[in-house]
Parts: sequence; structure tokens; C-alpha cells
Amino acid sequence: MTKQPIGVFISGRGTNLQSIINASKNENFPCEVKIVFSDNHSAKGIDLAKENGIDTFSLEIKDFINKGEFEEQILKLIKPYDLRLICLAGYMKILSSEFIEHYPNKILNIHPSLLPKYKGLNTHKRVLENNDDITGCTVHYVNHELDGGEIIVQKNVKVDATDSVTTLADKVLKQENMIYPEAIKMVLRK
Ligand code: GRF
Repeated sequence: MTKQPIGVFISGRGTNLQSIINASKNENFPCEVKIVFSDNHSAKGIDLAKENGIDTFSLEIKDFINKGEFEEQILKLIKPYDLRLICLAGYMKILSSEFIEHYPNKILNIHPSLLPKYKGLNTHKRVLENNDDITGCTVHYVNHELDGGEIIVQKNVKVDATDSVTTLADKVLKQENMIYPEAIKMVLRK
């Protein structure tokens, strides 16, 4: 099977990146990570990508006149890879509509809540404040509305009375790492 080229955008640690790389080592997984982009030169995920022989590059927005110029440069750098998908995995910048239009229905994101609940940041804190029994994670398409695109896969996680933001984040992250490769597979097999 010919594996389709995908890119992963990160800003930090890269556990979701790692789970996608691991999955792609299976010959039946439909794609291969060809490029990892980070908006943070010191993201740990960059080392991880390099260790796996994946091309990497990083650009920081502070080195550009504006976000438009920053994104133009990213588009230029990824163009030769002819990416079938871009997977945002802890990428902390919001992509502009102009950027998204270059990759229609080809950008996915993972979010640590059961969307449409808790869009944006600090999801686990808000779950605890509201005494929710169940939280979880979501892989969705990226559109012009923050965390608002069509949902591809979700996974529930039970909230225990003893949970803190840290323990909840750990539990949810484990499930994130499971569902991201699953969602990619579903999208590419459509
Ligand atoms: C994850 O919780 C993801 O849902 C959120 O940022 C975190 C990234 O973690 N958007 P990692 O860098 O993949 O380990």
C-alpha cells in the first residue's frame, strides 16, 4: 500500500505526534508523517520527529511582520510535500481562514474535551468547576470557527471525585493518543 503524506503541526511535547508516528509504522496504516512543523523552536516534539527521520522545521511568529507573513512562509515550506492531511497536535496558534482554504477538509485537530463543550483553553479546570461526571477528547475537522468543525471521533473519560486538573489531563491524554490515529485512519479510508 502506498502511504499518503501527512504533516503534523505542534507547539510542545508531542505525545500525540508520537502516537501518530507509532501507528504509521504499521504497514496497514494509510499514511506516513513526512513533515513536522512547530511554531516554537524548542518544542520537544521536534527532537522526537528528528529521531524518527522526519523532516522538521520551526518558525516563530515573533520573527515575522504579521501572522499573514508567518503563515505564507509555512505554506511555502509545506507545499512540496503535497500533504493529504495536516494534523494539529497541540499546535497553539489559530490558523487563519486564508490558511485553511489552502487545505479544505484536510486539517484535523485534537481537543481535550467532549466538543461542543469547552471550546478553547483550560478545559479540565472548567470540567472540574462544573462537577461534570464525564469528560473526554475529540478529533475534529478544522474550519473557521475555533474548535467548531465537524466531529470525527470522540472518547469519554470518567471524572473521579479525587481528580485534579493534572490527573484528569493525564487520563484524557491517554485517550487522545489512542483516538488520533483512529480518526486519521477513518478520514483517509473514506
Ligand atoms: C493535548 O492535550 C491536545 O489535546 C491539546 O494540547 C495537548 C498537546 O499534547 N490541544 P501533546 O503535545 O500532543 O503531548
